[in-house]
Amino acid sequence: MGNKVTVVGAGNVGATCANVIATRQIASELVLLDIKEGLAEGKMLDIFQTATLMDFDTNLLGITNDYSKTANSDVVVITSGIPRKPGMSREDLIGTNAGIVKNVAENVLKYSPNAIILMVSNPMDTMTYLASKILGLPRNRIFGMGGALDSARFKCYLSKALGANSNEIEGMVIGGHGDTTMIPLVSKATYKGIPVSEFADAATLEKVAADTMVGGATLTGLLGTSAWYAPGAAAAYVVESILNDQKKVVPSCVSLEGEYGQSDICIGVPAVIGRNGVEKILEVKLTADEQAAFEKSAEAVRKTNAVLKEIGAL
Ligand code: NAI
Ligand code: 2OP
Repeated sequence: MGNKVTVVGAGNVGATCANVIATRQIASELVLLDIKEGLAEGKMLDIFQTATLMDFDTNLLGITNDYSKTANSDVVVITSGIPRKPGMSREDLIGTNAGIVKNVAENVLKYSPNAIILMVSNPMDTMTYLASKILGLPRNRIFGMGGALDSARFKCYLSKALGANSNEIEGMVIGGHGDTTMIPLVSKATYKGIPVSEFADAATLEKVAADTMVGGATLTGLLGTSAWYAPGAAAAYVVESILNDQKKVVPSCVSLEGEYGQSDICIGVPAVIGRNGVEKILEVKLTADEQAAFEKSAEAVRKTNAVLKEIGAL
């Protein structure tokens, strides 16, 4: 496998993802594509001008809507679409983003038939489901990024609550990538391998979980649009695990075939991410409350998926 990456969408998240991939030299060849004339070219030129400052030599190309330049990409990250504004949920974006994602996904696969596709556009669980239905790829090659970001936010809030170094915290968020559908697995979170419940009381941990769930909305309120540094870095983190075959366990939105009692749905579960994309789904034992929350989450994601049929996207 080579290591050519394309990022579609040169907005806040796509450009940040490209910047992290470039500066960390995760790919040897990186293409950024946007439909807006000159935007991807400009962002890539700007990133290129940091090469001597940041000491990297990734081969960079920015392009306006010419998919032939993305040919034979090993990994394609899809971030094209509108982001949420204050007061909007991720689900409010479905009408606009379904059309964009459909068009982009088809173009991507035409030129990179062997690519692994990572969906970022929201509502991400439903956009992953849409692309996976349209493209008909095996589930290891089309999956979504949400859990990597939500877990990073969970660890960040945990570290603040415990007064601990965030790199000493382990924690995962599974379920849908939505304010009410994500499930921070508090029972499995640890500080240096020790359950966090030994360091914080139940009320504190409940607040950490609640803050995590509205982590995206909090930033949307502060910024006036949705966040980009952590989302872009989270997408690059998944790309790195693929290209370097790191086999990291990353909660990812994957098409389920009976795991966690679900099928015909793409939703966040712990997954081993390596050179073949999703190499394994880990079925961890959930508490009764977590299992019930997972079922509720799946129900909500299904409801959003149903809109795809109503608007004729599927
Ligand atoms: P943005 O508005 O800054 O960038 C989106 C870009 O997509 C724009 O530059 C636009 O020109 C481009 N675009 C639109 N239609 C296109 C097409 N047909 N082909 C190519 N490019 C096209 O938005 P931002 O903040 O970068 O967010 C992008 C998406 O990512 C949104 O849907 C947002 O909700 C989602 N998101 C998902 C996260 C996750 O964890 N899964 C986290 C953060 C954002
Ligand atoms: C986020 O979680 C809105 O999905 C976006 O920041």
